Formats: sequence, C-alpha cells, structure tokens
Amino acid sequence: MKNSNPAELAELLRRTQAAAALTGAGISVESGIPSFRGAHGLWTRYNPMEYAHIDAFLSNPAKVWRMLLELDATIRQARPNPAHYALAELEKMGKLKGIITQNVDNLHQEAGSRNVIEFHGNARRFVCLRCRRTIDPATLDFSHVPLYCSCGGLIKPDIVFFGEEIPPAANRAAFDLAESCDLMLVIGTSAAVMPANILPKAAKNHGAIIVEINLEPTELTRRFTDYFLEGSAGQILTEAVALLAS
Ligand code: OAD
Repeated sequence: MKNSNPAELAELLRRTQAAAALTGAGISVESGIPSFRGAHGLWTRYNPMEYAHIDAFLSNPAKVWRMLLELDATIRQARPNPAHYALAELEKMGKLKGIITQNVDNLHQEAGSRNVIEFHGNARRFVCLRCRRTIDPATLDFSHVPLYCSCGGLIKPDIVFFGEEIPPAANRAAFDLAESCDLMLVIGTSAAVMPANILPKAAKNHGAIIVEINLEPTELTRRFTDYFLEGSAGQILTEAVALLAS
C-alpha cells in the first residue's frame, strides 16, 4: 500500500480505459446522509439486528418502519455532492465503466451516472412481498405505516435487509465488472459487509489496481489497497478529475 494524492490518481486514471468504482455510505456523507458505522452512524442508534434484519421487519414491521421513515426523510432531502458528480464525469470521459454502490439513496443516478449497479437495492422503490409488484411511492401514504398492498401483502422498500440475498442480477453484474476492470476505486466504505467487501479482492485477483479513498484506513487498506488517498471523497475526486481534464 502506498499513500497517494489526487495528482497521482489523475495519472492512474489517464492510463485506464476501464475503471470501476465501489461506493459506500461515506460518499453520501457530504450530501447530509449519515453513514452506518462510526460516531454518528445509524447503527449506533438502531441495532441493525432489531431494525435491519428481514426477520425483524416481518415480525414487527411497525417498529422497523420507525427507522425506515427516518432514513426516507434523510434521503428525500439529499442532493448529489461533488464526489457523485466527479464519478459521473469520469464515466462521460470514457474512463469509468460503471459504479457498484452499496448505497440505496439514488444519488449516483441523480448526478448523471448511467451504469449504476444497485448492490443493496434502492430506497426510492417499493415492493409488495406477496404479489412482488413494484409500487410507485407517490401512491403511498407514509403517515400510516406499515404499508400494505391492495393484495393485502406487506410493502417493503426495495432494499436488501440483513438475512436477504443480493439481487442476483446485481450480484452477477457487480462481479463481472469487478473481474473485468483494470482499476477499482473503493470510495467511502468500511468494507465490513459481505459480499460487497469481496469485490475489491475479486478485482485484484483479476489484475486490477485498487485505489481506496477514505477518511481512515479500513479492513482492505493493508491487505488489498495499492494506493490509499486519505481524505474526503468530494475533495479528492474533484481535484483528480479536474487535473485529468486539464
Ligand atoms: P459504513 O458506515 O460502514 O462506512 C462508511 C465509510 O465511509 C467509513 O469507512 C468512513 O471512514 C468513510 N467516510 C465517511 N465520510 C467520508 C467522506 N466524506 N469521504 C470518504 N470516506 C468517508 O458504510 P458502508 O461501508 O457503506 O447495508 O456500509 C456497508 C453496508 O452496511 C451498507 O450498505 C448497509 C450497512 O449495513 C445494508 O443496509 C444492507
């Protein structure tokens, strides 16, 4: 692992034609969405096994909706930040093939990124657990939760709870991208959650350079990271993309 900087990242990006990004909650912190772990993380206030496990949702949906409504309100008012826009720009420049995101906030898509693999789903979509119908949130009354479908089934945000599998198409697309990229940007993730945290290893095993951007070292840093950029994703990516474009 080598400590690196935006100028070196710009040079690495200059040489790549097929980069990929793996993003986590840290990339959306500058948009006002708290991360999960760490001092102000959601999981310091809500025990994930009580509030984010599928069995908890099925057995006590009203309780889990208390956390979901808070998440929903935070995500609704959030807008993309410079890090999201920088990744969208890298895709337009033909450098970035796609983003695998663990985030459910839709901010990469709002920033203009086209190939976004939603590894943990999307909180702006809702699904009925009985008839599997996708439901437009504009038709839902969030003042009365839990929400039920006209078929009587329980409605759930289309996000992956603990105890649920990764949507198979997203899982396949993510590993295909990881195994075919020549550089993987790992941005704002603690890499504490399986199977997302296996993706950098899959990329490295297939010859990719691993570049990590984070406020602090993670589980990946010592074992898998080739270039580590310590600092905020917004600042580092904006600077690197500006240098690349100049
Ligand atoms: P975490 O909360 O575990 O980690 C956030 C990471 O972002 C930490 O390593 C921070 O140091 C870093 N960070 C914070 N602010 C940053 C900034 N401005 N710039 C760069 N880095 C910053 O979030 P995730 O790794 O995304 O799963 O968590 C993975 C999964 O755990 C989530 O998708 C969620 C959660 O349980 C599900 O909901 C299924």
